Amino acid sequence: MSHNPTDTFEIKKAATSKIDSVDFENLPFGSIFTDHMMYCDYKDGQWGTPVIEPYAPIPMDPSSRVFHYGQAIFEGMKAYKDEQDEIWLFRPDQNFIRFNKSATRLAMPEVPEPVFMEGLKQLINIDKDWVKKGKGNSLYLRPFMIATGHGVIASPSAQYRFMIIMSPAKSYYQGEVKVLIAEHYSRAANGGIGAAKAAGNYSAQFYPTRLANEQGYQQVIWTDDATHTKLEEAGTMNVFFKINDTLYTAPTSERILDGVTRKSILELAKRDNIKLEVRSVLVAELLEAAKDGSLKEIFGAGTAAVINPIIGFAYQDNYYELPKQENPIALEIKDKLTNIQHKLAEDTFGWTVKI
Ligand code: COI
Repeated sequence: MSHNPTDTFEIKKAATSKIDSVDFENLPFGSIFTDHMMYCDYKDGQWGTPVIEPYAPIPMDPSSRVFHYGQAIFEGMKAYKDEQDEIWLFRPDQNFIRFNKSATRLAMPEVPEPVFMEGLKQLINIDKDWVKKGKGNSLYLRPFMIATGHGVIASPSAQYRFMIIMSPAKSYYQGEVKVLIAEHYSRAANGGIGAAKAAGNYSAQFYPTRLANEQGYQQVIWTDDATHTKLEEAGTMNVFFKINDTLYTAPTSERILDGVTRKSILELAKRDNIKLEVRSVLVAELLEAAKDGSLKEIFGAGTAAVINPIIGFAYQDNYYELPKQENPIALEIKDKLTNIQHKLAEDTFGWTVKI
């Protein structure tokens, strides 16, 4: 399909903005949305004209496949405003590639690059006042695709809607994060959809995460489904462990999401000679390291969560609090990463893309 979205975008602007009613200092994550949204419908084997219009509920047929079979995928990205008021995306190519990999795995059509990229750029430009300056501020971008085809037959839809909505964001977690290591439930299995950013991967975690919340833990660290002995990822983030002076993170697989923040940390560590090994850490090894004092830090990494220190973990009936570090590597890496994202440090990787 040929698309020249700069010519073809249909734009209907909102008559008024709700920006003045937003308290940008107190933003519960992902619950306030900007004035506009973007969508593009897929029908009869092709993508239609992308539309930008005021943010509003969308009419849906109750038999749409997304409601019955969860045929839905999404991405999480952020836009940042630098001191000169320029707006930047961070590695949008990676999100685009992963989005279409998720689409293929869920038997959905690939979204053309101009629809995805121009959609983001045009939407951000229209709502650019919603991107606030300063570290800690960002505009969270949520591209997603849902199956809109009618009928409850259990087969892929013939119609889809690709959409982008945007939400001003500060931190994902309020306060300290403690995690529970999964013993019974699992996030994904080999051959399943764990590597895709499929909606169902997240809703499947809600119940076990609620049980963890009831015990005072904000997240679960998932273990492999077959043996529950290998530490894999947390609900909203990939995880890193610092044991002695080395960082460890699990290899990506059919069960583990190939996180953009995770992969950026690997590249930063390589550039700056931070000792890092990509290999599975075993639960037994973590318990041993917690007991003998060699476990120094655990942190999560993701677009929404950025880099989030984890202060302790529970396994079976025991809770292990991590020792306080004077100069935690989690914060050092977070600083390096967010300085690049906010254009406060040279982007030696070419990760940042101007809007
Ligand atoms: C992100 O970090 O952007 C994600 O997609 C995780 C989401 C569950 C908030």
